[in-house]
Amino acid sequence: MEFQPTEAFALEMDRNDPLRGFRSEFCIPCFRDIARAAKPRYNFDPASPAVYFVGNSLGLMPGATRAAVEQELDDWARWGVEGHFHAKHPWYPYHEELRENLATVVGARPREVVAMNSLTTNLHLLMVSFYRPTRERYKIVIEDSAFPSDSYAVQSQAEFHAARAGFDAPAGVLRLRPREGEATLRTEDILESLDREKDSIALVMLSGVNYLTGQLFEIPEITAFARERGMVVGWDLAHAAGNIDLSLHDDGPDFAAWCSYKYLNSGPGAVAGAFVHERHLDDPAKLPRFAGWWGNDPATRFKMGPEFVPVASADAWSLSNPPVLAMAPLRVSLGIFAKAGMKALREKSRLLTGYLEFLLRGAHGVKVLTPADPAQRGCQLSLVLPGDARQKFQHMQAAGIVCDFREPNVIRAAPVPLYNTFADVWNFSNVLKMALAR
Ligand SMILES: Cc1ncc(COP(=O)(O)O)c(C=O)c1O
Repeated sequence: MEFQPTEAFALEMDRNDPLRGFRSEFCIPCFRDIARAAKPRYNFDPASPAVYFVGNSLGLMPGATRAAVEQELDDWARWGVEGHFHAKHPWYPYHEELRENLATVVGARPREVVAMNSLTTNLHLLMVSFYRPTRERYKIVIEDSAFPSDSYAVQSQAEFHAARAGFDAPAGVLRLRPREGEATLRTEDILESLDREKDSIALVMLSGVNYLTGQLFEIPEITAFARERGMVVGWDLAHAAGNIDLSLHDDGPDFAAWCSYKYLNSGPGAVAGAFVHERHLDDPAKLPRFAGWWGNDPATRFKMGPEFVPVASADAWSLSNPPVLAMAPLRVSLGIFAKAGMKALREKSRLLTGYLEFLLRGAHGVKVLTPADPAQRGCQLSLVLPGDARQKFQHMQAAGIVCDFREPNVIRAAPVPLYNTFADVWNFSNVLKMALAR
């Protein structure tokens, strides 16, 4: 007998969800605020929670974040400069408090990670060390549908080095395209391209999860294949950190960077993260890098000498003292991840997104761009809508659904296991089907 979807099933899944308690730790926007143009026929309680499926863009605020930021303000008011040592969470070693949980979220060793700056800034700082092109080996590989900031970053890096190294700047970026008629890249094709261009590629810098299609790349296979051919490997994990159970240390890329405002729920423009593999840390003076005093060995930092002595950890890439007010939300959020555990989150995520995909099988004319194999995706499904997609998207917004729209016809929907429910998925699918039927 075929399984018939019912709301009762969704509610039962929510009752049995071992992570169900985490939803109440988040502030969920309400229907009234989201559905400004709500049509009365939907008959929702205006104070009821909206269906928030856009944690892939900006994650929700944990309730505890407000108190954590206020604590820092109170300590600043009370202690002034003495807060560096006497604040409840002393500011001088503030970033140290984040290290263990940050490492756990991305499957790294503590000294391999650092919280600092923003994502594109970190990619540039890491490329200063890890993109060292020569006349023969100069190409940077990205996917053709990489996020624009990544395209700009790698192109500008190629331009920065081209004249000195003696290569043609436009040829410095190799963009990987899917096969004709396909939306996502096949691993076999990625590996084939790397092999074909093995003598000219300096750096492979793909996204762990592509922002547009939601495709999760095979990080271990691609990393190992590229490294065997002498390439440097970095990953942009903007859409992977807090979404996928990563194993950065074991997978062995040279570097990675991610933002913390998406799945890591640390607020707009939150402090980002960076990873440098341990094999680069024991001889920290070996790699070229841009330096600042927070990358100096703490043992000599306050000797205030002119000579930079890099610390033997990813901190060697940090420049400035930590922005405590901005780091407080990250500290809170990483604490929640430590309690929930990435493995359990990923298990629920597979079920939630699988359930969404199952319900959408009945949505006439919707094409899913994201791979069907759960091992090749995270939370997000990218859906191509038929007809006037923008109008359908606006209709969904009016019914209290928060997802996002990418021109010309893609909506991205990300049920997030920390705070979304199976009932959210059920409601999303019903509203989408109503929008399609209009
Ligand atoms: C994959 C990817 N790379 C880079 C960026 C840019 O991030 P930032 O503005 O924090 O530098 C984003 C932002 O959403 C992104 O999704």
